[in-house]
Amino acid sequence: PRPIDELTIWDDAKAMLKKARREGVETVHDRLDQQTPHCKFCELGTTCRNCTMGPCRVSEKRPRGVCGADADVIVARNFGRFVTGGAAGHSDHGRDLIEVLEAIVEGEAPDYKITDEGKLFRLAGEVGIETEGRELMAVAEDLMECFFADFGSRKKSVSLLSRVPEVRKEKWAKLGMTPRGVDREIAEMMHRTHMGCDNDAPNTLIHAARTALADGWGGSMIGTELSDVIFGTPTPKMSTANLAVIKEDKVNLLVHGHNPVVSEMILAAAREPEMVARAKELGATGINVAGLCCTGNELLMRQGIPMAGNHLMTELAIITGAVEAVVVDYQCIMPSLVQISGCYHTKFIDTANKARFTGAIHFDFQPRTAMKQAREIVSIAIEAFAERDAGRVEIPGEPIEIMTGFSNEAVIEALGGTLDPLVKAIADGDIRGAVGIVGCNNPKIKHDSLNVGLTKELIKKDILVIVTGCVTTAAGKAGLLVPEAIEMAGPGLKKICGALGIPPVLHYGSCVDNSRIIQLCAALANELGVDISDLPVGASSPEWYSEKAAAIGLYAVASGIYTHLGHPPNILGSETVTNLAVSGLEDLVGASFFIEPDAVKTAEMFDERIKAKRKGLGLSE
Ligand code: SF4
Ligand code: FE2
Repeated sequence: PRPIDELTIWDDAKAMLKKARREGVETVHDRLDQQTPHCKFCELGTTCRNCTMGPCRVSEKRPRGVCGADADVIVARNFGRFVTGGAAGHSDHGRDLIEVLEAIVEGEAPDYKITDEGKLFRLAGEVGIETEGRELMAVAEDLMECFFADFGSRKKSVSLLSRVPEVRKEKWAKLGMTPRGVDREIAEMMHRTHMGCDNDAPNTLIHAARTALADGWGGSMIGTELSDVIFGTPTPKMSTANLAVIKEDKVNLLVHGHNPVVSEMILAAAREPEMVARAKELGATGINVAGLCCTGNELLMRQGIPMAGNHLMTELAIITGAVEAVVVDYQCIMPSLVQISGCYHTKFIDTANKARFTGAIHFDFQPRTAMKQAREIVSIAIEAFAERDAGRVEIPGEPIEIMTGFSNEAVIEALGGTLDPLVKAIADGDIRGAVGIVGCNNPKIKHDSLNVGLTKELIKKDILVIVTGCVTTAAGKAGLLVPEAIEMAGPGLKKICGALGIPPVLHYGSCVDNSRIIQLCAALANELGVDISDLPVGASSPEWYSEKAAAIGLYAVASGIYTHLGHPPNILGSETVTNLAVSGLEDLVGASFFIEPDAVKTAEMFDERIKAKRKGLGLSE
């Protein structure tokens, strides 16, 4: 096995990896070793399994599959389906929120309510629903219908394109990139990539971008906005992060996945006096709900509950031996968590029929019975406390303070009600630009090394950083999510963030909440009367791994945002596709991807880009 010091930058992770080796528990790193080297054809994207005349692997020696498809076609089809998988994930999550809204409107969800009425009315106004003098529930019903319809085939474009600058929409229309309906684009990609359909790589990629845009400005954005409506729009607050948020003297219940619909109820149930009393009967001092991954981000942003860890910490959290239950919804949940839970007293509980895990305790979680089911789940966690083996408990380190809760609404309020102060800070060069650093961990990259490294490099250059997803925990553990982190920033950022009492790195939420970042970009562009691609902004996913991350990256680029990836997707087997991704898209949508594994070099690339964009806007470098 590789030395533990090479696997991660964190002490809490190292301690648990040592414990895992001591206790004979297999982790993601061990399995990566078993799987290495990977199939070269698959790495290049030149394997096709789309029909049974194959499977085919194309190379210089055998340049065409049985049907005649070449590397360009095969790579484009594979990448198209890859992005589509991601768009489907986010957007189906968004749909689940619409279904909860529907249940609220129909009086079928007694435990949920519309928490942010103002936001619901604002959203309705944005998509052209009459709000004047109307009842909340009537408007909610119309909004629910409008968003459901965004998934279908009857619209010419998804409704929240109302936020996009006109010039950008014209560009999309000209390219055939306007996202019409979420499910439609997803289904059409499956159709196009069937044998004998779209056999022109650039054309397939245009539709991949359209599908990604349907996610970013459709499914994901609906997911974010309705989560705010139902559970409240985040406001700044303090919390903590790392494995030490797990408490030795408490019943520890970790929520993991992406959707707040389950975890919000779990949290509410865990706070009930009867639940706490039962935990105390069993010798605990209380119940501690903490988060993993994006479900963690959702609860962190809105409720300030602590964050135990990001993607590569999920296995390690259980290895503390102090976790009574892991409750999951969907996405990014390693199936290995079932086996690792089995090595301890940990109960692994799944809650969604579309994300079941063999060996898990299953709940078919429904809005109608949410609180009752949440109480049952919390009870399972509490009773497991009695089974904990104190001799196997090891919780490393101390929790690190973080600041969270930066929704666009909260930022605008902090700025005094308008974006003007932000525009001025950018114009003055105090904030030279902004980069959203998002996404995952990948065991092929030293855990969080790039996530943290890039963030530090950028803020030094007076580039504001916005984080979501698993980068949140990385930045938090590095001490970058507190106001004191301005000491690590350049003079301009230090001045502005210092005056506002905010960190130079803002936590903007979960992965679906990347929609908050594109919304902010669109608002800035509209304010300045320019296109999004004219702004001194960028996006990065340094340690990405998932289909969803590819969809996010592509909607960022298609929206006009220069986007960095720490390692390439499996497209290098096609020069056409690779060139299009890293340069050709620039001519089409005004932005492209760039691939760079080094944090310092990446920051320099962003710096150059931001200089050029500032110049274009007539600003000093
Ligand atoms: Fe091979 Fe073509 Fe079938 Fe793909 S679609 S498996 S390249 S024959
Ligand atoms: Fe996520």
